[in-house]
Amino acid sequence: MSEQVRIVEVGPRDGLQNEKTPVSVEARIAFIEALVGAGLHTVEVGAFVSPKAIPQMVNSDFVLRGVNHHPDSEFHVLVPNEKGYEAARAAGAKVIAVFASASEGFSRANINCSIAESIQRFKPVIARAKADDIKVRGYISCVLGCPYDGEVKPQAVVDVAKMLWDLGCYEISLGDTIGVGTPVKARQLLRAVAGAVPMANLAMHFHDTYGQALANLYAGMEEGARVIDSAAGGLGGCPYAPGATGNVATEDVVYMLEGMGIATGVDMAKLVAATNEVSRLIGRPPVSRVASALNAKLRVANSE
Ligand code: HMG
Ligand code: MG
Repeated sequence: MSEQVRIVEVGPRDGLQNEKTPVSVEARIAFIEALVGAGLHTVEVGAFVSPKAIPQMVNSDFVLRGVNHHPDSEFHVLVPNEKGYEAARAAGAKVIAVFASASEGFSRANINCSIAESIQRFKPVIARAKADDIKVRGYISCVLGCPYDGEVKPQAVVDVAKMLWDLGCYEISLGDTIGVGTPVKARQLLRAVAGAVPMANLAMHFHDTYGQALANLYAGMEEGARVIDSAAGGLGGCPYAPGATGNVATEDVVYMLEGMGIATGVDMAKLVAATNEVSRLIGRPPVSRVASALNAKLRVANSE
């Protein structure tokens, strides 16, 4: 497994969307700048969703405008409908992400419509994005289980993935929203979806609720998947997935990849510094095992 892996850093969106402590626009921009400075060049920075649904993502237009000057970085924002699309485009978005679900229960809770209705909603968004030269990523939530409907069959994921791919999404990100997946199931899922969408265009978006995310990623990599969504410090969760904790931590992913001989271009010390700063702002320590280990090492070194 010596090829390149692309990391999509989702901490500023998926991470901060679930935090109770509000983080200012300035601090969100500083966090993103620190992540880019650490070598993470694909970063999801905000969401153009209902402020009633996710107040944490209010002012994503200011955040995007504040960071959009980096020529070599790609910034993503979530868009649920045409209203969100218009706001994202006006703020200068070059990549948007639409988000569907593999389960009806989560679709209804998260975006207040059925899966079929969500696809109908995305059609004009994707068509307009294409005309405006804006790339569209497609998320599918609850690919390995749903907090409302329970078990989710791989075929349900395949069906939604095929629809999003056929509509023109350049990449389909498979979200284990509640982190219930285990490696063999993750592998079977990737194998099934790769029958409808090329493996090179699939991303693994695994939350770490049950501590399985790294193992699931490794299993997915053995199947050939090479795009990983992760969040600095293991931030995050989804307000519509009760009990779900953060994404797999970027530090932990980088440590694993570098240990496998896969260069990530990420400066670990800078990444941990970015994580520590955002952790200070939200008032709780990072859940990343690697960040905790390196912080402990630093404390010992400083006390000697
Ligand atoms: P709705 O209530 O059905 O929408 O919500 P509506 O069209 O009837 O509009 C209701 C109100 O929202 C109106 O305002 C609209 O103007 C406003 P009012 O007249 O009541 O004052 N509105 C908007 N405002 C700003 N931006 C918009 C927008 N659209 C409508 N784009 C809707 C439907 C989809 C809008 C809502 O349910 C929503 O925003 N949901 C977002 C939920 C969300 O962001 N969830 C977290 C992200 S998904 C996730 O975390 C999973 C992921 O990480 C992958 C994984 O882990 O699985 C991606
Ligand atoms: Mg997520």
